[in-house]
Amino acid sequence: MAAKIEAPRGTRDLLPEESPAWNAVEAVTRDLSRRYAFERIDTPLFERVELFARGLGESSDAVEKEMFRVSGASGSDEDRAEWALRPEPTAGIVRAYIEHGMHVRPGPLRLTLTGPMFRYDRPQAGRYRQFSQWDVEVIGDAGPMVDAELIELAHRFYREVGLDDVVAHVNSIGDEACRPQYRDALVAYFEAQEDRLTDDSRRRLRVNPLRVLDDKELAPDLADGAPRSVDHLCDPCREHFHAVLNMLDTLGCRYVLDHRLVRGLDYYTRTTYEFFVAGSEGQQQALGAGGRYDGLVELLGGRATPGIGFGIGLDRTVLALREQGVAQASRGPLVAVLGTGEDHAERLAVAGVLRDAGIAVRPDGSSRKLGKQLESAAKAGAAYAVILGDELATGSVVLKNLDGGEQSTVALDDLVRAVTGGGAGQPPPT
Ligand code: HAM
Repeated sequence: MAAKIEAPRGTRDLLPEESPAWNAVEAVTRDLSRRYAFERIDTPLFERVELFARGLGESSDAVEKEMFRVSGASGSDEDRAEWALRPEPTAGIVRAYIEHGMHVRPGPLRLTLTGPMFRYDRPQAGRYRQFSQWDVEVIGDAGPMVDAELIELAHRFYREVGLDDVVAHVNSIGDEACRPQYRDALVAYFEAQEDRLTDDSRRRLRVNPLRVLDDKELAPDLADGAPRSVDHLCDPCREHFHAVLNMLDTLGCRYVLDHRLVRGLDYYTRTTYEFFVAGSEGQQQALGAGGRYDGLVELLGGRATPGIGFGIGLDRTVLALREQGVAQASRGPLVAVLGTGEDHAERLAVAGVLRDAGIAVRPDGSSRKLGKQLESAAKAGAAYAVILGDELATGSVVLKNLDGGEQSTVALDDLVRAVTGGGAGQPPPT
């Protein structure tokens, strides 16, 4: 036997038994995108490395350690230097915004993208090299209301998929006016205790001191005593943050202030947030995250335009649903259409009548004995078997309930009603 080939490390196959959970979660993302008036945008899965280096920052983990380089057909080193699979969608969306002159459209723009992201990270539970995000971005709105709206939207998402107990961690990391003073205060504080920092933190202290707070191995007392960004905000940043928190209070959104929440990507300004199942914060397994990036459009070559968004990790959402034992709603009955002779065209025609009514149908394409076809239908989880036989000549079929076993002859015109229980409601689309 030839050697087996396995999926790459850090990737997973989404098997059919997992698809009901994914379908349900994706249906919520689509419905919320509609209800919150977001328009879909799709960008390439790979972009120039420079886009990420400039947008997310050379010293961000995503760029420095986790960039998934891809080569063109020639595979030359030059090629490899140029392209990377996207580690996140925000930089690509902002690139597209600038490239297509989208600033002339009536704003603020509300854009959404769902799809795979790639980070060449050390794989572990909940951390993959390929994972999916539901991302939303609002470009062109500087006011605090949209910050609160997005945090409320994320809360609603978790509620509607059925996750309990999700809490937002929020912080404000200021802007170019007040961040330098905060950075200086952090550097002074950590330099005085440099011997207690990890090697990684000592390096971060030189290139990006805020990220020292991100170090999971930072001693708790050192973290607790560190200067807090909220104490160094300039007046406009402080007012903005207070307004956001007031709105969250009014809306009853659950949040905690998290002074260590500096986020790993350099483009953030002002409000930042991450979502956790309450009590699971220590594992650094955020279910979703985001924040404001008021300088990013300009940094990538556009005119100064504020922006804000979030990315929700769909893999982690599905995992959390499984951990909380949330079952997915039934998808409505599955119907098998079976036949007794060379009636395959008729099987497809009858399947079509049921499908027109939104019913899921699995026609049997074999010429096996009816008993064998019934066995396969039951194994596939069908609730009913529609059996085509001599009655077809008079416009009827046999309908067999595979749960109870009873069967009856039903006119084709009545078949949909018989399968859906006579109610007006059709099974929900999946
Ligand atoms: P991020 O925090 O890097 O932010 O990722 C957002 C979410 O994606 C995380 O909270 C997590 O749920 C999921 N995620 C990240 N890495 C992995 C991984 N290796 N495996 C599984 N899930 C993962 C961003 O990507 C920003 N673009 C969010 C944003 C949008 N900020 C403004 N707009």
